[in-house]
Amino acid sequence: MNETPSDNIIQRMRARLWPNGLPRDDRGRMRLVVNNLILHIHPAKVSMRAMRWTYTWGLGGLAAMLLVLLGSTGILLEINYTPSAPQAYLNILELRSNVWFGELIRNVHHWSANLLVVVTVLHLLRVFFTGAYRPPRETNWLIGVGMLLLVLGGNFTGYLLPWDQLAFWAITVGTSVLTYVPLIGDALGRLLLGGPEVSGATLLNFYSLHISFIPLAIFGLMSFHFWRIRKDGGLTNPRGVDETEKVKLERVTTIPHLVRRELVYALVWLAAILVWAMLVPAPLEGIANPDLSPNPAKAPWYFLGLQELLLHFHPLVGAIIIPAAFFIGLALLPFYDVAAENVGVYFRSHRGRSLTVLATGLSLVSTPLWVALDEFVLHWADWLPAWPSLVSNGLVPLAVVALGLILMDEWVKDSFKATVEERVLFLFTFLFVAIFILTIIGIFFRGPGMSLYWPWAMPVVSH
Ligand code: HEM
Repeated sequence: MNETPSDNIIQRMRARLWPNGLPRDDRGRMRLVVNNLILHIHPAKVSMRAMRWTYTWGLGGLAAMLLVLLGSTGILLEINYTPSAPQAYLNILELRSNVWFGELIRNVHHWSANLLVVVTVLHLLRVFFTGAYRPPRETNWLIGVGMLLLVLGGNFTGYLLPWDQLAFWAITVGTSVLTYVPLIGDALGRLLLGGPEVSGATLLNFYSLHISFIPLAIFGLMSFHFWRIRKDGGLTNPRGVDETEKVKLERVTTIPHLVRRELVYALVWLAAILVWAMLVPAPLEGIANPDLSPNPAKAPWYFLGLQELLLHFHPLVGAIIIPAAFFIGLALLPFYDVAAENVGVYFRSHRGRSLTVLATGLSLVSTPLWVALDEFVLHWADWLPAWPSLVSNGLVPLAVVALGLILMDEWVKDSFKATVEERVLFLFTFLFVAIFILTIIGIFFRGPGMSLYWPWAMPVVSH
């Protein structure tokens, strides 16, 4: 048979790619395919130091694994689910009693989704504390912020699907915030809820978002995220504060060094999630009843920091202005903290480390103090009765808090001679810890009527 020019090209390519010839046995071919797949995601070589366990804590990879786990268990759950009320609730009951491994699959899906929120936030913190958002990684940081919002959106839309009391009221409280969006709030609320309040139409809307748009967008962005890591030259290179530029970059091949670690890490987490899911069932209360509101009615746990803000500020300020300012500030971080030094160094420098501890300590003390003061002492609306609530209960306390932050920043700048990057580190650490404390207060210390309350004692009556 005559060789055509294209046969010739293929043979030359083969000889270049596989100088020892293509594997002839099935195992060899399979290994080739898998290796090829891995090298589509990872570069062929990685820096030994970037692979250090104590640098990334494997958090990005864990988030990716959880997304895959959620996708696969989600598909299985969908087989036995109808997004209509009350059928959805009956389906969940049936899943628990009549479907092989139904309850286990639901538990794995539920706990993985909650874990994903925690892991995504921790991954963001690791990137933040190592300054890994700075140029050229600003695009990846922005993609990350988008993914965080989608992860929260995925959790929130999934929360309603069991159609029990917990789901119904958490979503009712969570979506009530939308009405405070200026101008378009009402329309936005109606569009999302499919009417004026949470109903069967909301269930269908949330289901559609939960199984189509949100997973597609997350997996699309995740692919982009991974591609960008490679385009940006791999991960930032971690350095201890005492190491100098002289420390050589040691690189090893991805297969088997990185892949083996990833596999062990993923298997350990998978086993832990499975055991947890076998022991701890996902919550399910009675069927949704719009006439019977629980007391207190709380949003899903990851929005309880936001709900706590609503107790202290006018809703426009607490639910819209503060969260929007925080997320815009977070997204724009790589555009005002552009220092090329100390990228890949936890907490930037020795002084940065001390400032991080200081910011954490200050926030741990001042956030609960502010909550207690505002609950029992500061009666803004009573003190400024002639002013509209937006001003007396919103802009005035906001101005007080903003002034406190500005004064703190000035103090850090003057007393510690902190650079811009260290001041950014201080401020955001303070804010992250504040959000954490507000969330803890919302979860554990708000009782009936959303009053402050010791979970182990009787509720405290407040104004
Ligand atoms: C579901 C969400 C996410 C997944 C699956 C994911 C996945 C990953 C993976 C696997 C890595 C490399 C390994 C590592 O750093 O742990 C990485 C790096 C990175 N991620 Fe994410 N990520 C997610 C969310 C985020 C978020 C919320 C941010 C920030 C807002 C972010 C920003 C970055 C940046 C800037 C890098 C490069 C870090 C460096 O070069 O050191 N990611 N991500």
